[in-house]
Amino acid sequence: MKTRIAVLAVAAALGATATAADAATLKISCASGLDGQLCRQATAQWAKNTGNEVEVVTTPTDSNALLALYQQILASGSDKIDVLMIDVVWPGILANHLIDLRPYTGGAEKQHFASMVANNTVGGKLVAMPWFTDAGLLYYRKDLLDKYKLKPPTTWEELTAAAKTVQDAERAAGNDKLWGYVWQGRAYEGLSCAALEWVASHNGGTVVDATGKVTINNANAARALSTAASWVGTITPKAVLNYGEEEARGVFQAGNAVFMRNWPYAWSLLQKPDSTVRGKVGVMPLPRGGAAGRNAATLGGWQLGVSRYSKNPKLAAELVAYMTSAEVQKMRAIKGSFNPTIPALYQDAEIIKANPFMATLSSTFSSAVPRPSAVSGAKYNQVSNQFWNASHDVLSGKSDAKSALARLEFSLKRLAPAGNWK
Ligand code: GLC
Repeated sequence: MKTRIAVLAVAAALGATATAADAATLKISCASGLDGQLCRQATAQWAKNTGNEVEVVTTPTDSNALLALYQQILASGSDKIDVLMIDVVWPGILANHLIDLRPYTGGAEKQHFASMVANNTVGGKLVAMPWFTDAGLLYYRKDLLDKYKLKPPTTWEELTAAAKTVQDAERAAGNDKLWGYVWQGRAYEGLSCAALEWVASHNGGTVVDATGKVTINNANAARALSTAASWVGTITPKAVLNYGEEEARGVFQAGNAVFMRNWPYAWSLLQKPDSTVRGKVGVMPLPRGGAAGRNAATLGGWQLGVSRYSKNPKLAAELVAYMTSAEVQKMRAIKGSFNPTIPALYQDAEIIKANPFMATLSSTFSSAVPRPSAVSGAKYNQVSNQFWNASHDVLSGKSDAKSALARLEFSLKRLAPAGNWK
């Protein structure tokens, strides 16, 4: 009897448990790598709690490739995916294909950062719940900077000089695989994030401003892109032109770079027992563009939404509620250094112990620079595509910064005649 009461109590605490007859199978998209493993772990727990099944759809790594896949699936009204992981820049692009979660959340969104809930609200609909947040960070090798008595750099000029000093000295001593600085230079969404940081940190704006005006064709932006281009082949391997996040991390984690630009997820992987650089890495804000510049980290992050074409929208919304809950966010923060979207979790001692940077760099996260997705709405991906291509042309030496930005301004303006992005 006692056992039976206990079982019922557990079932009640977990919410509705499906009976065999009404159990359903939901499909969710999860990333690859540790992100994907933790995603699977949480969905498996939910399936066990509720008596339903969850199938994980593995998705492409590049964010823009995932968007293309979603657009193809959703345009045909397919129910191939019920729960979608949604990049912070997509609510305006995908809103029409997602259900309003508000009737299902029981107000849970109020626990999350208000700016993220606002970002995910399109035309009054809450199209996705915040899952984790991101900001670009500078990772550096504490041991190598100490060895050469260098301070962590606060401007890009200091970073360039420090990277060169360490790279030259180490190579002369036989460490010939060492590079100064690795980052994301492939022609994809990740380059738009890195390039926005260079431009914004030189006071060159955010490509399109909040009023819809195209601002990218300016001297500070040109200086920012020229500076980055000057790294390629000097302190940065030419192969960076095809690096995403994981390629940069691979080089840095193998001990072959002094500095790396990456998102928070890299932290937990760099600290794994088999990591060459475990215990040797510091994290700090990305540098300012000269003394007059500012620290700029691009705002990233992922949400979970439910497809309008799902046959089980209510159940899918329940899965989203579980996956974005404080419990799952805490697990993902500790095991995978994914920044929570629930402010209260930044007071959690276990989370901060695993990720000290979440406390020390709180202003980097709170002042992260959004990409111009709110203003460009459904056209954001075209804006970004043009921006990453222009940046790639400058990095690869195909174009100088000034003419690339003049052309970019011209084609962006064509996307929004008279500054109208609707
Ligand atoms: C990270 C960010 C995401 C961004 C992507 C670019 O996943 O969270 O917002 O678009 O990187 O590669």
